[in-house]
Amino acid sequence: MHDPNDPLSRAAVAACFDLARARIDDPDPPLGRTADAAALESALAGAICRRGLGVDAAMALVRDVVVTNAVALDGPRFVALIPAAPSLAAKAFDAVVGAHSFSPESWLESAGAVAAENQTLRVLADAAGMPEGAGGCFVSGGSAGNLAALAVARDTRGGVGSVVLVSETAHASIDRAAHLLGLTIRTVPADDRGRLVGAALDDGFGDDDGPAVCAVVASAGATNTGAIDDLVGIAERCAAHGAWMHVDAAYGGGALFAPSVRERFAGIERADSLVIDPHKWLFGTLDCGALLYKDPALALPTFRQRASYLDLLQAEGAWNPSDYAFHLTRRARGLPLWFSMVVHGLDAYADAVERVLELARNAAETVRAADHLDLLVEPELSVVVFERRGWTDDDYAGWARRLLADEIAFVVPTRWNGRVVARAVFLHPDTPDTLFDTIVESMR
Ligand SMILES: Cc1ncc(COP(=O)(O)O)c(C=O)c1O
Repeated sequence: MHDPNDPLSRAAVAACFDLARARIDDPDPPLGRTADAAALESALAGAICRRGLGVDAAMALVRDVVVTNAVALDGPRFVALIPAAPSLAAKAFDAVVGAHSFSPESWLESAGAVAAENQTLRVLADAAGMPEGAGGCFVSGGSAGNLAALAVARDTRGGVGSVVLVSETAHASIDRAAHLLGLTIRTVPADDRGRLVGAALDDGFGDDDGPAVCAVVASAGATNTGAIDDLVGIAERCAAHGAWMHVDAAYGGGALFAPSVRERFAGIERADSLVIDPHKWLFGTLDCGALLYKDPALALPTFRQRASYLDLLQAEGAWNPSDYAFHLTRRARGLPLWFSMVVHGLDAYADAVERVLELARNAAETVRAADHLDLLVEPELSVVVFERRGWTDDDYAGWARRLLADEIAFVVPTRWNGRVVARAVFLHPDTPDTLFDTIVESMR
């Protein structure tokens, strides 16, 4: 299994590189499909056996079962949920990361990878305007980042049982993080555009007799609508009450690189912690979430693992990513982003993000012009929420299934003000404007 001259291993390596290359080179991969569990169980039956099936049989399973039964998240026709759109350079470098098995949990083991990841984190911190000294690590995504940030908030500003103020539009992972951390969620109403405004927090802080508020979670790009909360107002309240300000920019953070909307993020620089998912709108590969703390030293008491076999790794002053979230061994998941940024430069990132914003603006215009549709929320970033006059919940579900089955687009409904409605999310700069025209026509 480890001999590079072994014919079986050589054939496996060649087949995998061919497959990866073909996918990387495909500008518009098939949308793919899902299958029922029983069909896949039977297709995979006996695949792992005593003597191995060999490369041809294994690759047939990869092609016919694994690859086919997946909806292509990274393709230009995936406009549901929150898509991904990794650059080709990032995808290719992801294979390099796998081949090297870097171990950037510690400086001692993978100093080069840690330094490159830290350079990337600094670029993100600069985009947000965070102070010198801000830092953190790459985690698997927004959920992991939100959990880690709230753990530090709890340990520095409160304790088990203390309160986290969140808007009703915050991502679902915040509620689960609070549950895991023994924190109490107190929900604060959002305004009619789905934004949490600073003044709405005043009641939420409550009086001095109740449990202390340890943190406020603000969204900079709420998942459902792309709304950006009133970050300045929230920062002011957090400062006044000594609460930790966590900004969840897992989806929206990519737009920090777009000059046309940058001012909407005013106040983000005051965050105590910030999450941006490069695997969403910064064209990184899955799974890659950036977690930044204004003062990373605060995370050590929460996360540093202590053991005699780690002593050497934790020599005075060593920067170890394992100190900044819950993990020890970790993949160098920030490196594909770093490589892609080095190759293309930040101007290319700004252009690509701006193109995505333009797609959303054009889509909103198309909705406004259509006599069968209503635009429900003016898109702040790249999410367009709209409805088809007269449709029932079942109409939306049937329409979404048809578009996927016909390989036109992957788009799923959501709910807005209690009603099932349509939602399109753009993240791929090469999505053609005509895709949304087709989607709109399919709703007649
Ligand atoms: C605003 C926001 N926060 C957190 C998350 C969770 O991110 P992940 O799926 O990477 O855990 C998402 C996912 O869409 C999101 O949109």
